[in-house]
Amino acid sequence: MQPHLILAKETWKQFLKKSDLAIDATCGNGHDTLFLAELCSVIGLDIQAAAIQNTAELLENHEKKAVLHRMSHEKIDELPLPHPPRLIVYNLGYLPKGDKKITTMTESTLNSVKKGLEILGPGGALSITCYPGHEEGAREEIALEEWAKSLPSDRWLVCHHKWLNRKGAPSWLWISAIT
Ligand SMILES: C[S@@+](CC[C@H](N)C(=O)[O-])C[C@H]1O[C@@H](n2cnc3c(N)ncnc32)[C@H](O)[C@@H]1O
Repeated sequence: MQPHLILAKETWKQFLKKSDLAIDATCGNGHDTLFLAELCSVIGLDIQAAAIQNTAELLENHEKKAVLHRMSHEKIDELPLPHPPRLIVYNLGYLPKGDKKITTMTESTLNSVKKGLEILGPGGALSITCYPGHEEGAREEIALEEWAKSLPSDRWLVCHHKWLNRKGAPSWLWISAIT
């Protein structure tokens, strides 16, 4: 597993409790959804039918459950929720082995993470993996970092983990509510 994902997943493991709800806002091939489903209740979103199908199959093969919706995470505030989520996960970019033209986009991602902070339950967090190795991913990472830096420091703890000597390497943004 890539080091930024080890870091993210280890943090989710420490952070989540069985009674929590997590949203996987980019379920892709379902690896993150499956990992989260082993820790708590999960809702998974993706705009691509193939991603929803791959995720459903992976979950079924591992006898795990999640509620999956084919929709853009830009409408995350319209999701029916049993209770507020404690964690929202974004693993940005395009579907591995899929169409590289279908990728997360700076504007819709920003809209989604802003709405995400509003729907989080007390003490909740966002986990965002950025892939600046492609053009839109680089724009997205810069925009997310600028936005995250501007969040009020008395309400949010913001950490951006980057590999400084690896140009274009994935980075990981963690934003958690101060309680
Ligand atoms: C890097 S992949 C996610 C990998 C996935 N988490 C996994 O574990 O396999 C990014 C996914 O984001 C999806 N995506 C792109 N734009 C989206 C949007 N606006 N809302 C929801 N999903 C989106 C893509 O279809 C793609 O499947």
